[in-house]
Amino acid sequence: MGSGSALPKRVVTNAEMATMVDTSDEWIVERTGIRQRYIAGEGETTSTLAIAAAKAALEDAGLTAGDIDLIVLATATPDNTFPATATKVQHALGCNGGIAFDVAAVCSGFLYALTTADSLLSTGKAKRALVIGAETFSRILDWEDRTTCVLFGDGAGAIVLESPDSSDLAEKSGTKAQPGIIASSLHADGAQHDLLYVDGGPSTTQTVGHLRMRGPEVFKHAVVNLSNVLKEVIEDAGVSADEIDWIVPHQANKRILDATARKLKISPDRVIVTVDSHANTSAASVPLAFDTARKDGRIKAGDLVLMEAMGGGFTWGASLIRI
Ligand code: ACO
Repeated sequence: MGSGSALPKRVVTNAEMATMVDTSDEWIVERTGIRQRYIAGEGETTSTLAIAAAKAALEDAGLTAGDIDLIVLATATPDNTFPATATKVQHALGCNGGIAFDVAAVCSGFLYALTTADSLLSTGKAKRALVIGAETFSRILDWEDRTTCVLFGDGAGAIVLESPDSSDLAEKSGTKAQPGIIASSLHADGAQHDLLYVDGGPSTTQTVGHLRMRGPEVFKHAVVNLSNVLKEVIEDAGVSADEIDWIVPHQANKRILDATARKLKISPDRVIVTVDSHANTSAASVPLAFDTARKDGRIKAGDLVLMEAMGGGFTWGASLIRI
């Protein structure tokens, strides 16, 4: 029904990164496609970004906080260990009760949150949901490790979903086809923990810890897992790749996006790319990219949109959505 996004005020360019670690604009652009990232400053947290994105999504949907009875927020960088950041968002928006919880699936968090919210709406547990991806990965980066700190950024994106029981959804969106989530698939493989993880936590070190990653190995798994899950969802939905208007991928690395599109024989013109300006914002990256493409007029009501992501765990997933 609507979407919104929010970014921190401060932009950090590759040139600025090169003043912090031994790197260069050329290396970062060539290996990743990233040119800049947004980094949260004082007073900016995962919840403040999530609240701003949620407000923008509600306004876009023409709704108020009182219309929302479900908030699912995907994050690996919550404000506090508990309570869930979703409950902070609920309170700040002024929602009148309902369900609110966080989902932890790192970069795939938004896909996990979307599928969970869809299930709760489909089974009548709620009527209207805010699904949010929000992160401040800058707070878990090792700023002396050039192999990881150049890759990530902060931000938030949100969408509003309405229960499929609302029969007038197609009319509201101005299209003939009924909007909704047509097919979804989620996966996890805990055996790959050591390739991408944070080396701290409340129950282990009692510290927040830092992100650790074996990048080239993650890259190889990402291309294989993502092309498999995309094929699975396309087949499940009974559509052909040609019918898909847009792919909104997790924005980790331009080379992963290109390789995945090539494997599916989907033209790069139909892939939404924001990694150049946002870098990898983990769970926020898919809704941020989606909102960017809706607001600039590329994604329109009636379009068939394929979202996908993979992240630490490993976890990965995809959803095919009629907008
Ligand atoms: N600046 C300059 N040089 C660097 C930097 C840097 N920031 N980082 C690493 N290097 C050096 C390395 O030390 C290495 O030097 P050496 O050859 O002297 O040892 C050289 O560059 C090549 O390093 P590789 O790690 O082999 O480079 P690669 O081409 O694989 O690119 C990258 C690294 C960008 C991390 C890539 O592997 C990648 O994108 N992997 C996916 C990881 C990812 O996106 N994870 C996010 C979460 S999971 C997901 O979202 C899918």
